[in-house]
Amino acid sequence: MVRERYRAALIGLGRIADTIDDEVVGTGWFVPFSHMGSYMDVPEVQVVGGTDLHPQQRAWFGERWGMDPAHLYESYEEMLERERPDIVSVCTSAAPRAKVVLDIARMVRAGRTGVKCLWVEKPIANSLADADAMVAACREAGIVLLMNAMRASDVYYRRARALIDAGALGKMLQITTHSGGNVSHMGTHILGAMCLLAGGSERVSWIVGEVESDEKAAGDVDFAANVYLAFENGVRGFCRMMPSGPANWMIDAIGETGRIHVRNVDKGYEWELWRMAPAVEGERPTPVRHVFPRPQRIWSAGVGQVKDAIACIETGKTPNCSGEMAVHLLEIAIAIRESHRRGNVHIDLPLTDRDQVLRSSETMHGDQPRIISGGERPPPTHLLAQIARREGIGRRRPVS
Ligand SMILES: NC(=O)c1ccc[n+]([C@@H]2O[C@H](COP(=O)([O-])OP(=O)(O)OC[C@H]3O[C@@H](n4cnc5c(N)ncnc54)[C@H](O)[C@@H]3O)[C@@H](O)[C@H]2O)c1
Repeated sequence: MVRERYRAALIGLGRIADTIDDEVVGTGWFVPFSHMGSYMDVPEVQVVGGTDLHPQQRAWFGERWGMDPAHLYESYEEMLERERPDIVSVCTSAAPRAKVVLDIARMVRAGRTGVKCLWVEKPIANSLADADAMVAACREAGIVLLMNAMRASDVYYRRARALIDAGALGKMLQITTHSGGNVSHMGTHILGAMCLLAGGSERVSWIVGEVESDEKAAGDVDFAANVYLAFENGVRGFCRMMPSGPANWMIDAIGETGRIHVRNVDKGYEWELWRMAPAVEGERPTPVRHVFPRPQRIWSAGVGQVKDAIACIETGKTPNCSGEMAVHLLEIAIAIRESHRRGNVHIDLPLTDRDQVLRSSETMHGDQPRIISGGERPPPTHLLAQIARREGIGRRRPVS
């Protein structure tokens, strides 16, 4: 295998780019979860640069990863011209994301840099017009656009999808989920998982939504909600993003002859496969729980995204979570608000009004990096985190 044949770089050196592994180590998630950690685990990739507006973020990043300050920039334009990366992570909040992506596409078209793939954070943008422009600009510039609704590249979700495609659950009927958080910020994750497990085109034809309050529905800031979804392939979905007590972060993917049940979706991997079978020969079929046929090769969802980026570059495949899917997920979130505003009516997708804005929760604290505005949690010290550290998990290695 040719090693380090792709050059990668990161724009925005905060939590998801760098430090989030400290938060998730010892939880049910596989690490690396961060973009930088994920690149480090894929031998085909060499990280060649990083950029952040804040000198302190650049300094911390350089110290943690042993990266020479000469490769850490304030301006992403300068970094892209000098370092010529193939894959670029856009790990800013959603607020500047459209400008960054459009600038990069322009630079590629002008031959000023050679970016082949953008791995952008979620949600894609704060407006449909921006999101549409990002997808169009990347298409014109020949850039693969991949969004980090990361369950799409998680080995368990991919195994579940393969089972669904192979008919192991029979004809798919219903996806029911309970999750927390607001529709654009965390909703991107749960709605993305629902689309993936619905099978078929993964597209929703129409929705009926309810926002947490009339006041929230009247504004343009992220909100909690419930939504009923009609997928193109006839599957129906219900997602409760309003508080769900101990049922929080749960998925039921139900087919005519089988069901995949996932608990603790926000924190990891508790997977069950149920299929209809007779408990005793001659009896009528009843639901029987099986050991979930686990994926045989395991890597973290972040590493899965990097592998997907490489596969897209090399084979022309559609990303597991494409730019178009990213727009669709934002569109569902905005359609929920539209449904509520009009009296909880049925809303067809795609939305015709592309000027609607929905400001994702993570953009509400302004442009300050989360760690500088006090938002970052300290690294966990609990028992599982200590065990993980002793095993060397989540430990950073210097960039080669
Ligand atoms: N996929 C996930 O599970 C997941 C988890 C956490 C965060 N996120 C997403 O990642 C994004 C970033 O969140 P975070 O918590 O890492 O925030 P953060 O504040 O820790 O980091 C963002 C960084 O981007 C930098 N930045 C902003 N504009 C820039 C520019 N023009 N050029 C260079 N750097 C710039 C900021 O200075 C900051 O350091 C958000 O959109 C969030 O929704 C996703």
